Amino acid sequence: MTFIRRDANPNKIADEVFVLSKKAKEDKDPKKINATIGSILDENEELVAFKSVFETFDALDDKDKARYADNFEGNKDYLEAVYKHVLKGQVDLPHRLVATSGGTGAITLAFKNILERGDQVLLPHIAWGAYKTIAEDHALKVTTYNTFDVDDLILKAHELCKSQDKLLIVINSPCHNPTGFAFDLAMWDKLIKALEAIEKPCVILNDIAYLDYTYDLKKGREYLKLFNEISANTMVIIAFSLSKTFTSYGLRTGADIILARNKEDVDALANVFERSCRALWSNVNNAAMMTFAKVMRDKREEFLLEKDGYIKMLKKRSDLFLKELDAYHIPYYPYNDGFFITISFKDNQKRDNVHELLLKRHVYTLRVNLGIRIAICSVPYNKLKDLSLILKEVLEK
Ligand SMILES: Cc1ncc(COP(=O)(O)O)c(C=O)c1O
Repeated sequence: MTFIRRDANPNKIADEVFVLSKKAKEDKDPKKINATIGSILDENEELVAFKSVFETFDALDDKDKARYADNFEGNKDYLEAVYKHVLKGQVDLPHRLVATSGGTGAITLAFKNILERGDQVLLPHIAWGAYKTIAEDHALKVTTYNTFDVDDLILKAHELCKSQDKLLIVINSPCHNPTGFAFDLAMWDKLIKALEAIEKPCVILNDIAYLDYTYDLKKGREYLKLFNEISANTMVIIAFSLSKTFTSYGLRTGADIILARNKEDVDALANVFERSCRALWSNVNNAAMMTFAKVMRDKREEFLLEKDGYIKMLKKRSDLFLKELDAYHIPYYPYNDGFFITISFKDNQKRDNVHELLLKRHVYTLRVNLGIRIAICSVPYNKLKDLSLILKEVLEK
């Protein structure tokens, strides 16, 4: 006898980040290094919460914090502010936005509503672990492409469309989690052209959770203008998250930006998404949406300046850490910008051994496929030399 739906997974979810950061917190060694957390911590290892954001949030009327949002789709001024902030006027295509419960909600809506049950979603071979959980939750299977190789992605897309009627391709760029890799303009261009030839509906889900932390903010967004070139069989969904942009991980707010050549295609999907919002979480956090709209209207410069300070902090950390890795000949995946750098491994057994040895040295990191992720966003500058030395010693064992 079971009380659970047949295709539900009854095993307790083990999110390694949460398990390891708890372990790290309990570790009393003064030299411990916690490189698991995907949030920005300052040089004193304190969680960063932008003043411009939380002063605005705190100044909201209690009734605004208490009340429901205007509708399921999201408050109009929030959606307009997201569109403007993300695309900066670079895209001229029919579009609609739907507010979501964080970036996770934005990804969930796409996984839930595009492919048929049993279809395969195309994911990078090294990726944020939650994609697989979300896929499983919506009875989707997974095919992976080489994270760094657009030709492999195109090949996999061609193969997959022989066995299913639609494609859903996840591209987490720029600031890919866990490697910090970014698709360049040539890769985006090649992909967009290749999808035209597929002649079946293709959806690119561009997860931009960390877009606001590229080292060159203008260059980091340049690729977005290439979406103007999509053909009628391609749709782009940009999954935006307020978690990193506003250091407001717990406010659970994000959005999907739906772009396509035909307005009817956009409206049809937005209506489906809106219905899912109603079914999943009803409406998203009203105070968070109000805060975003207000900051973008009244405190944008202050916010950008504050964020820029932390981008510079990340750059300083990544410059040093990469220099140390190079000096010790420690291999890592291509890194452009972002919160994470990942040490590369040829096999997962060796990776597991190294991960275990690091734990014995009070160093907490996250295992990913063929890699060990170092969250430079949460390791202070003055611990990075020690961290690279420990890595070198452990890798030599
Ligand atoms: C690659 C990636 N996408 C999306 C998200 C979603 O973030 P949230 O649901 O907190 O907005 C995260 C969060 O860690 C992430 O790393």
